[in-house]
Amino acid sequence: MSPITLSPGLAYYPDYLDRPAQERLLSSLREITRQAPLYTPRMPRTGKPFSVRMTNCGPLGWVSDVEGYRYQPTHPETGKPWPAMPDQVLRAWEELSDYPHPPDACLINFYEPTARMGMHQDKDEEEFAAPVVSLSLGDTALFRYGGLERKDPTRSIKLRSGDAIVFGGPARLIYHGIDRLNAGSSDLLPQGGRLSLTLRKVEKAI
Ligand code: SIN
Ligand code: FE2
Repeated sequence: MSPITLSPGLAYYPDYLDRPAQERLLSSLREITRQAPLYTPRMPRTGKPFSVRMTNCGPLGWVSDVEGYRYQPTHPETGKPWPAMPDQVLRAWEELSDYPHPPDACLINFYEPTARMGMHQDKDEEEFAAPVVSLSLGDTALFRYGGLERKDPTRSIKLRSGDAIVFGGPARLIYHGIDRLNAGSSDLLPQGGRLSLTLRKVEKAI
């Protein structure tokens, strides 16, 4: 599968998952959220709630609360280990990451139609040699990306249900965020909104 290169290291795979694959992934996510419910993360220090709700699957999950951002092996509210990553997700990583070890974290974001995510870098991992692989389901989102400094110019691209993007190499630490959703643009999720999965290698393999 050949991607569209948006900038060095930032690869875009439109329609990576076809509709049946999106439905399979959605049903896996329903099972995951039964075991590990979506919760509302809070900003470090201020405790301000995120507009996005989150959960995780895999050995480690990314969490945020007043104490800060971190990866941990258990759900912050239930205290239970995160559910396993579905095979479909592991296969997507094998196909897209060009990295020889499996991911150890998969963050699941749920966006209500009005939710957004401010510009940030994914830098809580130890292993920057592995890329971040992201999969989108549901309503179209306007994904904004820039450079390695917050002040760098930005561009945006619409991520539709089934699209994948990979940021690695020189793009591993780019600033990125979600400006807004196009509410009602997809009928995959019966109540609307968007789910995104971001797969990462957190711990160094060796
Ligand atoms: C993220 O940056 O963690 C998620 C971006 C997205 O939802 O596509
Ligand atoms: Fe991110």
